[in-house]
Amino acid sequence: MKAIILAGGYATRLRPISYVIPKLLFPVVGKPMVHWTLDMLKKFGVNEVILGVNYLADLLRAELGSTYDGMHVRYSLEKTPLGTAGPIKLASHLTKLHGTFLAMNGDVIADINIRRMLSHHLKTEASITDALHEVMDPRRFGVVELDSAHRILRFVEKPNLNEAPSRLANAGIYLIEPDVLRMIPDDRKFSLERQIFPGLARQRRLSGFTFPGYWFDIGNLSDYQRANFELLSRKAGKSTLQEKRSKVSNRSALRPPVYVGRGSRIESGSSLGPFVLIGKSGQVGKRTRITKSIIFDEVTIGEGSRVDGAVIASNVTIGKNVKIERGSTLSPYVQVGDGVRIGENAVVHPYKEVATNVSPGKHVM
Ligand code: GTP
Repeated sequence: MKAIILAGGYATRLRPISYVIPKLLFPVVGKPMVHWTLDMLKKFGVNEVILGVNYLADLLRAELGSTYDGMHVRYSLEKTPLGTAGPIKLASHLTKLHGTFLAMNGDVIADINIRRMLSHHLKTEASITDALHEVMDPRRFGVVELDSAHRILRFVEKPNLNEAPSRLANAGIYLIEPDVLRMIPDDRKFSLERQIFPGLARQRRLSGFTFPGYWFDIGNLSDYQRANFELLSRKAGKSTLQEKRSKVSNRSALRPPVYVGRGSRIESGSSLGPFVLIGKSGQVGKRTRITKSIIFDEVTIGEGSRVDGAVIASNVTIGKNVKIERGSTLSPYVQVGDGVRIGENAVVHPYKEVATNVSPGKHVM
């Protein structure tokens, strides 16, 4: 089977980090988000993946190249963003889509059995089958009304609690028959959810497949943190995950769950966790304390510093005795001088040098 991954959005809700790093390359427990998707697709026998790209396409191409674990990876480059359906049509000019194919949002991580979804799809003879996931709070999602044959009758986008027909949310993973391609115009922004689904639902050609595993839709920083912390808990449980060539001083304290990436060094007297992820080739100096934070690759944190509830993107350098408070975001290549205090919910934009204290909530641009 072939799969199309939508990977061309601007990820505005993840700015300013996403000005420099495409959302699909944000790390999630030691690997880029897109690797979770590719690993899942590989497991179910997908042999060709087409990434619908636009914004920061070169970075995605540089990271993934043309093969991934034996799957062919191709890139369908949009001149302007084409929405959710337009990229599927464009991809169909790059590769032949004769049989049922899969399309999905690149920013979801799901434990879904595609084989079961396919047999459901073939049984119902739908033109599109949409994966559905039961959510606690339907108000943030598009939820569906289903009939007894699992056909989707309608979608309600971000409903009030009393208007929600169910708690089954569109999970952004679809199996599609090639005849749908005729409904999508060429070279034009077009929406699967708004411009294709309603007509198909009326014709009873849209099916819903509910799956029980985990599902994370990574739109904003708090979704991103939740995905990391929950997946870390699942993988590490009550222990520490430590990759090869990392070095953790035996005079440091790790409070699980903690992840330490390949080649990272944690020096003596430091205390990490719970819920701390350190990417590749990081340096954590002596007597540093880090709790509930995500640290991307190649970050240096000087001795005596404290980091609490922060997201620190790749190639950031933090001096000695720095204090980074809850909810702060540091973008790629930021440099923070010794003794600086970064207040709660402050945001530092890419490449900035910070030499003086940053007050809570302030954006350093
Ligand atoms: P926000 O700007 O924060 O809403 O994020 P986004 O741009 O990623 O939009 P959204 O979360 O709705 O996108 C869901 C998925 O579709 C993501 O994987 C996006 O990369 C992808 N996507 C969104 N718009 C486009 C587009 O115009 N073209 C392509 N190829 N992918 C898109």
